[in-house]
Amino acid sequence: MQQHYFSARPSSPSKPGTVDLVLPDLRLTLDTDAGVFSPQGVDAGTKLLLLDGPAPDAAAAGPFLDLGCGYGPIACALGRRAPDAEVWAVDVNERARELCVANADRAGLDGVRVAAPEDVPADLSFAGIWSNPPIRIGKPALHALLLDWLPRLEPGAKAWLVVHKHLGADSLAGWLGASIGPTTRVSSRAGYRILEVAPDR
Ligand SMILES: C[S@@+](CC[C@H](N)C(=O)[O-])C[C@H]1O[C@@H](n2cnc3c(N)ncnc32)[C@H](O)[C@@H]1O
Repeated sequence: MQQHYFSARPSSPSKPGTVDLVLPDLRLTLDTDAGVFSPQGVDAGTKLLLLDGPAPDAAAAGPFLDLGCGYGPIACALGRRAPDAEVWAVDVNERARELCVANADRAGLDGVRVAAPEDVPADLSFAGIWSNPPIRIGKPALHALLLDWLPRLEPGAKAWLVVHKHLGADSLAGWLGASIGPTTRVSSRAGYRILEVAPDR
């Protein structure tokens, strides 16, 4: 069976590697492996989200969410930028979660909590969500995922999603605006859109 980066238990043989996440304000070396998203290097969209999206306040407490954390570039960057914040890093892919745990540990990021979606406390709400969402799971599953998690933002809090225009960023923006709340394109670069979503209350 073909393996996807969003398999719960990737069966592809392990092929460990490391990548560097280099941003103006931080540098992290991250473990990667086969069977997870973008193992050869930090995805260009992820990097743009971290460059052009808002950074959390350095003194923020969170809790924040990285929805679909993979090996953890977004969660670890949030943890580095807001060292006292609780950052939930959530993914269905077990191998990705293990890598994210190792990457947060190595960087000394005590606030990063890596979890399967079903292990996040149901009553937890978030002070911000950052995500490079799993577009390739298909539109119905993606919509269901966003309807599950974005309404869990605290009142007044926002989500920032990076999506490539060739993967439907503009139609997703329309759907988010109609189904979740006001949606603004805060950046458009190299084909990627960063969408800011403020759920209706
Ligand atoms: C585009 S990748 C981004 C990974 C990582 N944030 C990065 O920037 O490298 C999307 C991630 O969402 C995960 N994913 C897929 N379906 C999910 C679901 N229902 N709940 C949580 N994560 C999911 C995939 O396993 C994948 O790791």
